[in-house]
Amino acid sequence: MGDRPRTTTGVRGVPGDPLVDRFGRVHRDLRISLTDRCSLRCTYCMPEQGNEWLARSSILTVDEIERIARVAAAAGVTTFRLTGGEPLLRADIVEVVRRLAAIRTPRGAAIDLAMTTNGIRLADLVEPLREAGLRRLNISIDTLRRDRFHELTRRDRLPEVLAGIAAAAASGLRPLKLNAVAMRGVNDDEIVDLVEFALAHGAQLRFIEQMPLDAGHTWDRASMVTRAEILETLAQRWRLTPVPGRGGAPAEKWTLDGGTATVGVIASVTAPFCGQCDRLRLTADGQLRNCLFSTGEYDLLGVLRGAPGVHGVPDAGDAAIDAGVDAVLRACVAGKLPGHAIDDPAFLQPARGMNAIGG
Ligand code: 5AD
Ligand code: SF4
Repeated sequence: MGDRPRTTTGVRGVPGDPLVDRFGRVHRDLRISLTDRCSLRCTYCMPEQGNEWLARSSILTVDEIERIARVAAAAGVTTFRLTGGEPLLRADIVEVVRRLAAIRTPRGAAIDLAMTTNGIRLADLVEPLREAGLRRLNISIDTLRRDRFHELTRRDRLPEVLAGIAAAAASGLRPLKLNAVAMRGVNDDEIVDLVEFALAHGAQLRFIEQMPLDAGHTWDRASMVTRAEILETLAQRWRLTPVPGRGGAPAEKWTLDGGTATVGVIASVTAPFCGQCDRLRLTADGQLRNCLFSTGEYDLLGVLRGAPGVHGVPDAGDAAIDAGVDAVLRACVAGKLPGHAIDDPAFLQPARGMNAIGG
């Protein structure tokens, strides 16, 4: 931290400039959490009971989300990923997608619009979402066994998830990605099965190292399934060839037996990709975060709703609100730290769980 620049004003820029932080990272990806509610209760993410939900009145409306996204696009953001909680629980999800899909980059190009979902309700929604302009889907699936799924998510809903994955595969939305958090003694014996399931659906399986984001604060470095172990298991079944050119993407990829299909590993803990991070996160209640693990947030809700003292006059005009949103985006980027330091003994788990931050 000793070599941190003394002032940050030099990198903030003005509306229209790209969002570059103190370490030269250009921010092009905005993760938008649409709700903190979820139809599942995955043990690594949420408590079984007693979760404190965000107040409904503080959840961003579709107009507010659209405004933030439009200002972000003007500042060089080219990808929006919709997350949750579970984004498909929002009653206006198709309208949110339609509005965001209509946003253009300053050069007039379309925005890359993606969603991460648990798959429940997807069987009914994938076609309307595709028609509204959704381009890509990531679906979470940690196990293919119904009893395990019930235990892990505390809900007996695997059949609905499988129907959602089948519908996504049939919809032709590609690339289709399936995410699995690898967990010792829970699903580490299904690593090969999950890849074969993905291949059968024309999808790419991506294994994620478990991160300390669970509401119960039970994460333990020693029992985590690592990238190295996942690769060892995969290598017993397939010949793995690394795919070069990862860029800023969190997943490292390998082809299987020299074919076109790939498998990915997101090694957030043992091989962090913070140096290439180009992401910002918007919580469902309008707080901007520069990292999953940051302990601070930048308030956009107050700017949008004219909280006195935050933005000044309550009935500020549209242009003034846009300028306020832009200023918060720049302050958030300027405050970004070089990395998450999960391995540092002084590491502090963020107060919000994953469902309230957005994946
Ligand atoms: N560690 C790793 N991945 C997690 N996810 C949720 N919580 C964690 C965690 N503690 C994943 C979900 C989903 C994505 C949004 O994030 O499984 O695939
Ligand atoms: Fe980016 Fe934070 Fe994730 Fe690192 S931990 S990759 S800085 S969001």
